[in-house]
Amino acid sequence: MTVLEAAERRWSVREYANRPVEDEKLERILRAGWLAPTASNEQRTKIIAVTDPELRQRLVDACEDQEFVGQAPVVLVTCADQDRTMICGQSARTMDCAIAMSFMRLQAIEEGLQGCWLGWFHSEQVREILNIPPEYVVVAVTPIGYPAYPGERSEKKPMEDVVVYNRM
Ligand SMILES: Cc1cc2nc3c(=O)[nH]c(=O)nc-3n(C[C@H](O)[C@H](O)[C@H](O)COP(=O)(O)O)c2cc1C
Repeated sequence: MTVLEAAERRWSVREYANRPVEDEKLERILRAGWLAPTASNEQRTKIIAVTDPELRQRLVDACEDQEFVGQAPVVLVTCADQDRTMICGQSARTMDCAIAMSFMRLQAIEEGLQGCWLGWFHSEQVREILNIPPEYVVVAVTPIGYPAYPGERSEKKPMEDVVVYNRM
């Protein structure tokens, strides 16, 4: 599968099959996150793979009762410390963590898995459940697993509405 094929086969899945993720697949997914670039190569990102069913169930509450968080066999969480604002005005750690999660999402597709990026979570609850120290910003929570049914890509705006060459 090419990277573009993986991008084309990615869509948000909120129902998962009752099937575990094989260890070697999870390992490759985590490896993709580990290899992701970070601002100035500072590598402050921590990637947490939550496989424990009890912890995943507790995360449902932290994610505004999004039940599929408990149903998915793995929940990936990215967080990082020593945040700083870059010259562009953006948070370096938010970027680092988002890129790492995106790399993992694409590798998950390669492995036949789907997921759903979550922004609706209470970071203080996630922090408490996963023992994340206070100096870390919790950026992304993404359940992954085998989809319960095939599904299809969500409708996207025409590419020319999104992409411009040279000047906007
Ligand atoms: C930053 C961000 C936050 C999101 N938060 C949630 C969420 O909390 N719950 C959820 O079900 N989907 C969430 N989504 C998934 C989006 O709803 C989904 O990506 C969007 O509808 C496009 O669909 P697609 O992912 O199938 O292309 C989030 C996506 C992004 C990028």
